[in-house]
Parts: sequence; C-alpha cells; structure tokens
Amino acid sequence: MENPPNIAFIHKVASDLTGKTTVQGRTHSFRCLKEGDEVHFWYLGRGKRRYNKIDQVFIHSDHSSIQCQYFGVCGGCSGQHIPYEEQFKYKTKQLAEQYKDTWEVETELIPAQTSYKYRNRMDFAIFPGKSGLRESGNFRKIVDIESCLIQSEWADKEWKLIRSYISQHPEIPLNRKSEEGFLKYVTIRYSFSTDDSMLIFTIDKALEGCEAEKELEAWTLANSSAKNIIFCYNPRQSEVSAFGSFRLAKGNSSYLETILDTRLQVPFDSFFQPNPKQFESILHEIQKWILEWKADNLIDLFCGGGFFSILFGKYFEKIVGYEVNKASIAAAKEIVGNLYPKIESSFESIDLFQKKFIPQFLESLENKQLDPTKTVLILDPPRNGAGSFMLDWIENSNIKYIAYVSCNPKGQWDEIMNHIGKNYNPIKVLITDPYPQTPHLESLVILERKKTVIDFKF
Ligand SMILES: C[S@@+](CC[C@H](N)C(=O)[O-])C[C@H]1O[C@@H](n2cnc3c(N)ncnc32)[C@H](O)[C@@H]1O
Repeated sequence: MENPPNIAFIHKVASDLTGKTTVQGRTHSFRCLKEGDEVHFWYLGRGKRRYNKIDQVFIHSDHSSIQCQYFGVCGGCSGQHIPYEEQFKYKTKQLAEQYKDTWEVETELIPAQTSYKYRNRMDFAIFPGKSGLRESGNFRKIVDIESCLIQSEWADKEWKLIRSYISQHPEIPLNRKSEEGFLKYVTIRYSFSTDDSMLIFTIDKALEGCEAEKELEAWTLANSSAKNIIFCYNPRQSEVSAFGSFRLAKGNSSYLETILDTRLQVPFDSFFQPNPKQFESILHEIQKWILEWKADNLIDLFCGGGFFSILFGKYFEKIVGYEVNKASIAAAKEIVGNLYPKIESSFESIDLFQKKFIPQFLESLENKQLDPTKTVLILDPPRNGAGSFMLDWIENSNIKYIAYVSCNPKGQWDEIMNHIGKNYNPIKVLITDPYPQTPHLESLVILERKKTVIDFKF
C-alpha cells in the first residue's frame, strides 16, 4: 500500500463477533478482532464508495485461543480469537436483553459442550490447484484447506486422504472457466451417534460417467473407509453440492443418525441438524410444551424429512407437513406413515416462498379441517426466515401454540417483532450454540395466541 494506513484499536465486539472501531466519526467492523486488538487499514475506492471497501492488516493482542492456521482467511470460523465462553456471551447478550426488555421473558442460555470437532457435515469446493472452503467475504476465492478443526476426526482424516489424491490428479477438479475437469464438490457426512458415514462427490452432469470419474471411484472404493459413497450430478453452472441425480457406488443413499433415542435415515441430499447433540436441549423444551398443551394436531412447516413429526408425532391425532424438497417429503411420508400407521398424516412439497403456490397451501390446509385452537405449529424455516406469505398467514392464523425454531435468532426476533408478535406472546426463549467459533446460534421461541376466535377456520 502506498499511503500510510489508518491505525485503530477495537473497542467493542458485536453479537456477530466482529470487532468495532470508530475513526473520524465512522464506525467500521472487522472480522476476527477483539477488544484491544490493533488494525491497520486503508480505504479503497473514491468518494462515498471509498468507505465500503477496506483493506486491512490485523494485529492480535493475544493469539493464544486461535487453533487453526487458516483462521482469518477462511470463511468458516470467525470466533477462534475469543475464548469460547466469551464468544457465547457476545453472541447472546443483546438478544437476551431484547426479549427481557420487550416481552419480559428470561432467555435460557445453553452454551456448547464441545467447541471443536462438532460438525457432522462439511462441503469442500474443488478447484484446480485448490480444494477447501470459501474465502471470507469472497465466494469466488477458495482457501486451500488440508484440515478443518470443527469437523469430526474421521471426516478430517478422510478429507486429508481425498484432497491429497485430488491434488495429484489435475484432470479431476472442474475448471469453471475453461471447463476442463469434472469434480465440483466433496461432501463428507458423519454421524457422531452411530458412526455411520457418507462421501458425496458432486460432478458436472455433462461429464457423467467419464473415464476419470471411474478412476476416482475405483480409488475411493479401495482407499476410503466411508460406509456409503455417492456420485451425484448437476449442471456445470450450479454451485450446489450434494444435489441432483445420483449413482450409488457403495452402501445406501441415506445414512443413519439417532437423536432422542430415535433412529433416522438421512437422505444424502437432505438437511439434517449439523450438530444434533447440541440441538437436544431445544427438542426437550419442545417436548415439554407439547405435553403441557395436549393439542390434537401438528403442523410441521419447513418440515425437511419430517424431523419434528418423527420425534413428536406420537403426541398428535393428525400431522401435516410442508416443505419444498421432494425427496425430503417422500422420506417424511414413508417414515412417519410407517412409525405411526394409526395417525392421520400428510406431507406435501410446496414452495412456501412463492406467491403463486400459497393458494395451494391454503386449500390443502383447509381440506385437513384442523381446529386451529387445538393445533401446534412447529416452524423451522431456512436461515433467511419464514418469508412474507407464511408470516402473514401465521400472524392471522389463530393457531393456538407455536414452537418457532431458528438458526438465525436475529432474523427470528425481527419476524416476531414485526409480524407474529402482533397476535402472539413469546412465553419462553431458549438459545443454544451448535456452532462454536462461528457467529451462528440456534434458538427456540415458544409463542401463544393472545386471543382466539373460537369458530375461526383456516
Ligand atoms: C432449517 S431446515 C429445517 C428442516 C427440518 N425441520 C429439520 O429440522 O430437519 C429448513 C427447511 O426449509 C426448506 N425450504 C427451503 N426453502 C423452502 C421453500 N421455498 N419452501 C418450502 N421449504 C423450503 C429446506 O429444504 C429445509 O428442509
């Protein structure tokens, strides 16, 4: 850099674990810095836009808690510079205060039991000369990673082996520009509770079955200890891993997890809680409320493979689930149908974010003839939230009880403040941390209808 840098000290850590500093009346956020750390930075660009782009050099006052050599560059973790107990305080403090100040509800806070080696799934991007995770703030750049400390030991060993093979075979990685090569992602899934394991290779569909893929398969079968191995195919431009048509090379297309003593087959392309053990406190809490409410019906919204219906279906007379992913819906139908043959259950694949499908959703619910005053809604949307159509529907639905699970507690707070909270009171908040070293959390808010209209129908 030609110009001398701005030099500043971090004075505060925010709930997203970024360090804040104020220079000439402007506050800037820096990843991976804590109170007392020094930052040297340069404004890039001109005029108003110059403040949007910053180049930086970190000087940590204390490195002792950083365990990973890629920390600061890799987009995966952003909290290793702060001891775990402090991370959890920073992540939860503001939310707990907001619930207390606005709704007079105390938040139960449950920190992580294990702060490394906890994730059951990693998706590594494969590029020529580099295989690993995305760079922080830059989806196009890959950090070449040999070892990731938040995945299981088995997955770490497996990744080292596969990465080493790929790096010796330049014909394998797909070059997104020249279109040479064929492999886009390696996904590793591992169950801590059953020791079941799965490798998923995501391949450019145009090159399905090429000679180099056959060689990769032969090498993997001979060298990998994964119990299930899958090759899946999607279009060259797609940057979605573990998704598309597939071929089994070994084992099954699903792997086995257990949670709350229940065995669950997880399809290779389905969502499953990334750290199931740490999620159990949320499940115990939901179960407690379900037992207290004694409602007849369960609506499982954004149901995935029927996770909550499988665990809690036995407490209801009718279960309905909605979700966009067709394979997940098929799995939910089969498992819930087999587990609870005497319970009326139905699962439908509907895109709940698209206006044109909302009439289909409403008609489907109306046909089920559920009494909303005897109904529990379990709502577990993706990180970007429940979406405006579902929020409008929930707010005016007259459903008596809601268990709202979220991996984005800040977004969840906004949705409760701006929509659901108009007609519902939060009566219990629980926040737990299945994602140590990252800014993420998982939260549960239990809500009850403020006032119900007895003869209301969906
Ligand atoms: C946080 S996951 C929860 C899944 C399930 N409740 C579980 O615990 O396994 C969110 C779910 O929302 C689904 N989803 C994403 N976009 C959707 C959409 N537009 N319409 C309906 N479901 C969607 C995803 O496929 C995913 O299964």
